[in-house]
Amino acid sequence: MKVFVKEDIFALANQLKSIKQKRKGWQDEWDFNSQARDYDESLKMNGYRFNVHENYDQALAKAIEFVHPREGETGVDIGIGTGNLGSQCIPLGTHVIGVDQSDEMLSVCKGKHPQIDVRHGHFLALPVMDGEVDFITTSYALHHVTEGEKELALREMDRILKPNGRIAIVDLMFANQHDRERVISDFKEAGNQEAILAIEDEYYADRSNLVAWFEQLGYEIHIHPFNDILHMVYAEKQ
Ligand SMILES: C[S@@+](CC[C@H](N)C(=O)[O-])C[C@H]1O[C@@H](n2cnc3c(N)ncnc32)[C@H](O)[C@@H]1O
Repeated sequence: MKVFVKEDIFALANQLKSIKQKRKGWQDEWDFNSQARDYDESLKMNGYRFNVHENYDQALAKAIEFVHPREGETGVDIGIGTGNLGSQCIPLGTHVIGVDQSDEMLSVCKGKHPQIDVRHGHFLALPVMDGEVDFITTSYALHHVTEGEKELALREMDRILKPNGRIAIVDLMFANQHDRERVISDFKEAGNQEAILAIEDEYYADRSNLVAWFEQLGYEIHIHPFNDILHMVYAEKQ
C-alpha cells in the first residue's frame, strides 16, 4: 500500500481543486442552444472554402462499425446533439444514454428519437455511474474542450466504462503539432482565411496526445483518418 506524505496530500488536493475549477469554469462559447433547431439543416451547407462536415456520414458509420454495439448493451454518446450518431445504436438493440451540455440539443434529440435516455451533462462530469457502460461514442464534440481538459475528459470516460469497454472518438483533430502547422500553412498559402479562423475558434485535438493518454490508461488503440482534420481514435479498455 502506498504511504502518502504531507507533500503528496497537498499535491493531490491542489490537483483535485484544479479539476473542480476546470469543470465549473467551462463556458459554451458557441451557444449550442441557439443552433439546435437548425443543426441538421446546417450539416448540408458547406463552408465557402472550408467544410468541417466533409465525410460526416462516413465518419459516424465508421464509429458504429468499430464500436459494434450489441443487443442488451448500454452505450453513451457524449455531446449527442440532435442524436445523429447515438440513434444508430437503437436498431441494434442497445440502451443509449445521450449526454449533452445543451438542453435545446437534448430536446431536439428526444423529439427525433424518444428511445434515447437523454441526460444533461458535461465531458468533465458525466451523469453516469462508475463502470456502467459497455461503450462510448462521441462525434464532433470533443474539440469544444481545451487540450488540457481533453485529458480529464478521457479519464472521465475511463471511469464510466466497464472492463473491455470500447470508445470511438470521431472529431476534428490533427495527427500531431507538426501536421497542424503544415495544414495551417497550406491554408495560409492558399489565402484561405475562412479555414484558419474556423480552426482557431475551436480546440482541435492533437491526436498524438489522445493516443498517449489512452495508452497510459492501458488501452489498445486504432486510428482512422478521414481527411487532414477529421480522424477517428478507437480505444479498447484492456
Ligand atoms: C457540433 S455538435 C455535434 C453533435 C453530434 N454529436 C453530431 O455529430 O452531429 C457539438 C455538440 O457537443 C455538445 N458539447 C459541446 N461541448 C460539450 C461539453 N463540454 N460537454 C458536453 N457536450 C458538449 C454541444 O452542446 C453540441 O450539442
